[in-house]
Parts: sequence; C-alpha cells; structure tokens
Amino acid sequence: MNTILITGGAGFIGSHVVREFVYKYPEKKIINIDALTYAGNLENLSDIENCNNYQFIKADITNASSIMEIFQKHKPDGIIHLAAESHVDRSITNPLEFVMTNVIGTVNLLNAAKEIWKDNYEGKRFHHVSTDEVYGALGETGFFTEETSYDPHSPYSASKASSDHFVRAYHDTYGLPIVITNCSNNYGPNHFPEKLIPLCIHNILNNKPLPIYGNGKYTRDWLFVIDHAKAIDLVFHKGENGNSYNVGGFNEWQNIDLVKELCKQMDEKLNRSIGTAANLITFIKDRPGHDLRYAIDATKINKELNWSPSVTFEEGLSKTIDWFLENKDWLENVTSGDYQKYYQKQYTK
Ligand code: NAD
Ligand code: DAU
Repeated sequence: MNTILITGGAGFIGSHVVREFVYKYPEKKIINIDALTYAGNLENLSDIENCNNYQFIKADITNASSIMEIFQKHKPDGIIHLAAESHVDRSITNPLEFVMTNVIGTVNLLNAAKEIWKDNYEGKRFHHVSTDEVYGALGETGFFTEETSYDPHSPYSASKASSDHFVRAYHDTYGLPIVITNCSNNYGPNHFPEKLIPLCIHNILNNKPLPIYGNGKYTRDWLFVIDHAKAIDLVFHKGENGNSYNVGGFNEWQNIDLVKELCKQMDEKLNRSIGTAANLITFIKDRPGHDLRYAIDATKINKELNWSPSVTFEEGLSKTIDWFLENKDWLENVTSGDYQKYYQKQYTK
C-alpha cells in the first residue's frame, strides 16, 4: 500500500492514528481528510504538519462529489475511517447530524472506495473505526464479544451501528475488503473537554463543579488512546478480511470512582490538599437512556494479533493530566467561543 487516507484525523483519536502512521511508515503517503468541525483541530497535528509523507485536505464526508473527486485524484489503497460525530449528549439534542455524518458520510466513503477500486480489491482495505456502544448496555456482569448482538440505545450508537452494518453489507454484497474495530472509551492527550475526563480536568483547573450524571455508578472500560492507535495499525495491516475486532482495556471504572481518582491525582500534581478537587463533585440530572455498563472482551485481538494495552490506567491518567497541565493554551483555545454556548445549554438546566 502506498497511499493511506485517514478520515477525522484532526480529532482526538484520529490525530494519534495519523501521527502513528506518519512516523511509522515514512515510505507511505498519509492523507488526512477532515471537515474541521468543533471537534477537529489542526493544532493536534502541529508536530507533523511539515512531514514529507503527510497531507491534509479539508473536506466534508457528507459531500459525495467532493469525496469521489479526492478518491479519484489520490487513489488511496487503504482507508481508515474515523470521522464522526462522537458525543452521545450532542446526539440526544441533534440526532440528524449524526445520521448525516456517521451514516451518509460512511456510505459516501464506501461508494468512493468501491468506485476507484472497481472490484479489483487486491492489496486494498477499508478499515471502519467503531465503538462498543453498538452492543448496547451490560448488566453488572459479562462482556461484549464480537458475537454480541447489536442493541444500540442512543442516537449516536444507533448511527454507529448503522454505519457498521453498511460496511459489512459492502463486504457481503460487493466483496469490498473491510475490517471493523469496536473500541471502548478512550482517554489521553487532545481529548475534547465535552467528554468526562477532560471536562473534569478543565473544571478542576477552573474551580467549577464536576457534573456527575445520575448516581455516578455507570461503568466504562477505559483505554489509553495511543493503545487504540496501535490496535488500529495492527488490525488495518493484519486483521482478517471481513472481520471485526473488539478493543478494550480490561479496565472498568464506575464514573464516581474514576472522578475521585482523577481528583486525587490533580490535587497531588497541583500541590493542593487532598479533597480540594473532590469537593467540586456535583450529582446532576441523568443522561436520558444512559447505558449502565460497557466492558469489552478483547481476547480475539489479543490472541490473533498479540495486542494488549501498554500502560496501566494510573500511568495513562497521570500522562493525560500532565499533558493537559503542559498544554493549557490548547485547552483555553478549544473552550473559548462555541464551547461556552454548548456548556451553558448542557449543564445549566
Ligand atoms: P472526535 O469527535 O474527537 O473527532 C471527530 C473528527 O471527525 C473531528 O476531527 C471532526 O472534525 C471530524 N468530522 C466530523 N464530521 C465530519 C465530516 N462530516 N466530514 C469530515 N470530518 C468530520 O472523535 P473521536 O473521539 O476521536 O472518535 C473518532 C472515531 O472513533 C469515531 O468514529 C468514534 O465513533 C470512534 N470511537 C471513539 C471512542 C472514544 O472514546 N472517543 C471510542 C470508540 C470509538
Ligand atoms: O464506549 C465508547 C464511547 O465512549 C465512544 O464511542 C464515544 O464516542 C465516546 O464519547 C464515549 O462515550 P461515553 O458516553 O461513554 O463518554 P462520556 O465521556 O461522554 O461519558 C462517560 C461516562 O460519564 C458516561 O457514563 C456518562 C458520564 N458523564 C459524562 C459527562 C460528559 C457524566 O457523568 N457527566 C458528564 O458531564
């Protein structure tokens, strides 16, 4: 493969995937397509923007003709598709935007890949990056495997489930060479502060309440974003055609315990007395349709591709906090302007 096209590369996970590929594969051309929505930020890639094997193209995946033009011009051999509307709360207030980007946008990419590869799929691959939320919610026990039935509950997860189905349908109907990864909650540098961990870091720094939905006993399985990027690299290159792979950290935390751990680490790093940050914890109205628990069984990717997380949660969280403390300008830039309007609407009810 000579040219790899990555969508959503200016976002949180996408920027780590682009960096991983640009450095690891200097002989390949890496093209990043991103519409630069509120979640896309070229600052995330400032360290690689001048690399010879990297190119950025601003484009919206909902625009079928511009996507086809880009594919016809650059003839990518591989696609890694991350562009999406990714925040569950925003999907509850604006579901259609999620249908447009996550469903229609994905189908536009599938059509473009099918057209330029013209049924000669030798050496080609379409990697769709998806989520564990497509499987719905677990009770207090059990894990999601690749065989778990889809049962999405939020407009976000319904749109991602739909896109997964389209990707599989293009494999089954047209033979398009595809792989899918379904990953659990990521955290790390460049995480947009609408999501729980960076939102709490930002609020602790600004002495604002830490909003915990409902009773805080909802459980997520957290994975350091660079471990996700490495899993994507492995599955993209070595995953079996037509297969999906679950990716997760074997690292479950109830939200309230996670936020308390974060508070403890923040107090230590900021040289404040222990308990200062935790005093900001505030229980608020629950998220509608809130999934109780997600937990990934990552045995398949571990056994078949020898992938496992490289950092413990405590290490990953510490690295994450350090990054935010060293990059206060980044945080300041992404939380000015529209973020303030979003925050008011979401949390002042
Ligand atoms: P993000 O919201 O941080 O970034 C999304 C990126 O997509 C942004 O750069 C944005 O500008 C771009 N984008 C949005 N709409 C676009 C459009 N119409 N055309 C082109 N670009 C567009 O998202 P993320 O958290 O980095 O997630 C990336 C992918 O990984 C998503 O597909 C998401 O569903 C999936 N995923 C995320 C997590 C997680 O914990 N964040 C976990 C599992 C899977
Ligand atoms: O599981 C993978 C998914 O993880 C990805 O597909 C999504 O793109 C990603 O956003 C994430 O979804 P969650 O809804 O799990 O992440 P979020 O950070 O929004 O919320 C994590 C948990 O914290 C969830 O139970 C809701 C809760 N929460 C969240 C926010 C923003 C709060 O209690 N308060 C908050 O203010």
